[in-house]
Amino acid sequence: MKSTSVLFICLGNICRSPAAEAVFASIVEKNNAHHLFHIDSAGLIAYHEGESADNRMRSIAFQRGYHLTHISRPIRTADFYNFDLIIGMDNENISKLQRIAPPDATARIELLTRYCTAHTDDVVPDPYYGGTSAFVHVIDLLEDACENLFQKLMAD
Ligand code: 4NP
Repeated sequence: MKSTSVLFICLGNICRSPAAEAVFASIVEKNNAHHLFHIDSAGLIAYHEGESADNRMRSIAFQRGYHLTHISRPIRTADFYNFDLIIGMDNENISKLQRIAPPDATARIELLTRYCTAHTDDVVPDPYYGGTSAFVHVIDLLEDACENLFQKLMAD
């Protein structure tokens, strides 16, 4: 099987996408498949560039067994050629990705929730202005979607 590169995207790259990166990486590790994947995350705004993930997201993720080490970075044009899959968290993410993608981009742009099977949510909602339950819900959705994304990519 050839290796697959996956870039998770959200608005700020401090809550949802660094958590998605860690959840997906954990599933990959558990399945001894790290040699088959390149995993990263990035944001659509550069406002938090250079920052660690949001403390609330790190803390809730840690309680669920994930160690968030990513440092926020904005998406760059090269990402549209260097990654096989660019996965956004909500419809605004997808619209912006489609708007800024170069015409000859090779990456496939997808909404993460298309891989959810245990949840019916259309999007992974932005938890930034929410309480603890919003962050817990993000992890629930990420675990559901990332497990199915992993299975799908392994089956391809
Ligand atoms: P994220 O959450 O997109 O899941 O990283 C946000 C983080 C920061 C902001 C918005 C959303 N912000 O506007 O600064």
